This record gives sequence, structure tokens and C-alpha cells, in this order.
Amino acid sequence: MWAKIHQSLTRTEGRSPFGEMLDNGDICAVTVHMHLRSPIVVTIDGWSSCGKSTLARQLAQRLDYLYIDSGAMYRAITLYFLRHQVDFSDPLAVAEALRHIHLSFVWNNLLGQSEMHLNDENVEQEIRGLAVAQQVSEVAAIADVRTFAIDQQRLMGQHKGIVMDGRDIGTVVFPQAELKIFMTADMDVRVQRRYQEMAQKNPSVDLQEVRKNLEQRDYLDSHRIVSPLRQAADAVLIDNTFISREEQLQLAWQWVKDREGHSS
Ligand code: DC
Repeated sequence: MWAKIHQSLTRTEGRSPFGEMLDNGDICAVTVHMHLRSPIVVTIDGWSSCGKSTLARQLAQRLDYLYIDSGAMYRAITLYFLRHQVDFSDPLAVAEALRHIHLSFVWNNLLGQSEMHLNDENVEQEIRGLAVAQQVSEVAAIADVRTFAIDQQRLMGQHKGIVMDGRDIGTVVFPQAELKIFMTADMDVRVQRRYQEMAQKNPSVDLQEVRKNLEQRDYLDSHRIVSPLRQAADAVLIDNTFISREEQLQLAWQWVKDREGHSS
């Protein structure tokens, strides 16, 4: 009697690890299918306030992947520029300021989320305010700022197993990503979502101002010369105007599962 073991390193989600066992008289052949998950890079790009970060965070949690909010990096850089009155139009001043900026994501155990730290200070709350929101698109359009942020984003994704959301993640930062998602939603729905999010922190926030800010950011993000927001040719689209968070999560999770077995 002999046993022949095939180790088939394919993903066999949902199956028994013992794919088949043949008993043919004194000949027994056993085929073992091992579950091997190859983590991938997931990019989520799209318009402001489309729920990118909600999906990215939930997806990363469900997959046990790292979640990186690339917008938080541009926001933290903007905060530094505002605090130090850096003249955005002066390339030398921008380059000098960038030399003094250290960005890191630090896990907050209590809240179960990673938070943006600027030079070791937790700025997670401050970067979400209107002052930063009004300037961030202008700062994010500066070529040196983008190079600075993109270099760090690529390092974070070098071992895969990452979900990163932003505007140019699938087109510029990780053009080889295994799964690219592009998100959109109806403008009225986006304004309402953003308004409700901001009103929780600041009850006097004005709905029209929120709309104006979103429209301005859409325009600037999609018309800038460096890395404008656009859907990558190989990205899958999620329009979440009418679908729930659970539905979009299930959709994206399935896309990841379909791809995890095929990446190298
Ligand atoms: O996703 P967010 O709203 O936090 O992004 C803040 C700003 O940063 C937004 O106006 C666009 C810019 N951004 C960008 O240019 N590229 C990215 N990868 C992420 C954000």
C-alpha cells in the first residue's frame, strides 16, 4: 500500500482540506488541497464623501488587512502648512516644510482605528475640520507634496494585504493593484452624508457651505495637472446611492476573494 500526496497550493475556499481520497484495493491516493491566501492590494478611489473610507475600513477589518486613509496624509500636510503659514505657491517654502513633516498612522486600541499623527501629535480630529477641508485640494495638487506622500504610501503597500483609499491610488500609487474599486454616488446624497458627519462635531455647520466645498473639491481633484482623479480603466465601479453599507461590503469582499488566489 502506498500513499501519494499531492499538495495543491490552490485556494479551495469552503472545501474540506482533504480534496479527495481514493481507496482502490491496496492502492490509496490522497490529494491534499491546502488553503493558501495570497494577500492582495485593494485600491478604493472616488469622489469626496462617497463612503470610500467606510468601505475601506470595514473591508480591511474583515480581511485582516491594513487600512490606509491616504487623504488623511494630505490633510495632515495641509494642517502643518496652515499652522506654519507656509506659502503654497512658493516651491522652496513647500520643499523646506516637507523636510519637517513626519507622518504616521498609530493604532488607537480604545476606538479600534488607526489615527493620523503629525510629528507624533494625534491630529485625527483637527484634520477633519472645515479649515483643512477648504485648503487640502490646493495642497494635494502640489507635485512635491504628492511625491512625498506617494513614496510613503508605496512603502506601506510593499507587503500587500492593504486597503488604501484616495483619488489616485489605483491609477498612480498602485497601478498593478489586483483589485481597483472606483466609488461614486449622487451629489445630494453625498452632501447629506458629509453634512451629517460634520454636524455631529459642529452643529452650526451650513448645508450650502458643505455643498460648495464638495463641488470645489470635486473640480480641483479632477482637474489638477498631477494625478487627477479619474477611474482606472480596470477599476470596478460602485455607485452606492441606493445600496447599503452591508451590500457594498459584501460585493467588495467577494471581489477580493475572487482575486486572492490568483495573485503572485
Ligand atoms: O479623502 P479625503 O476627503 O480625506 O481627501 C482630502 C483631500 O486630499 C481631497 O480633496 C483630495 C486629496 N487627496 C488626493 O489628492 N489624493 C489622494 N490619494 C487622497 C486625497
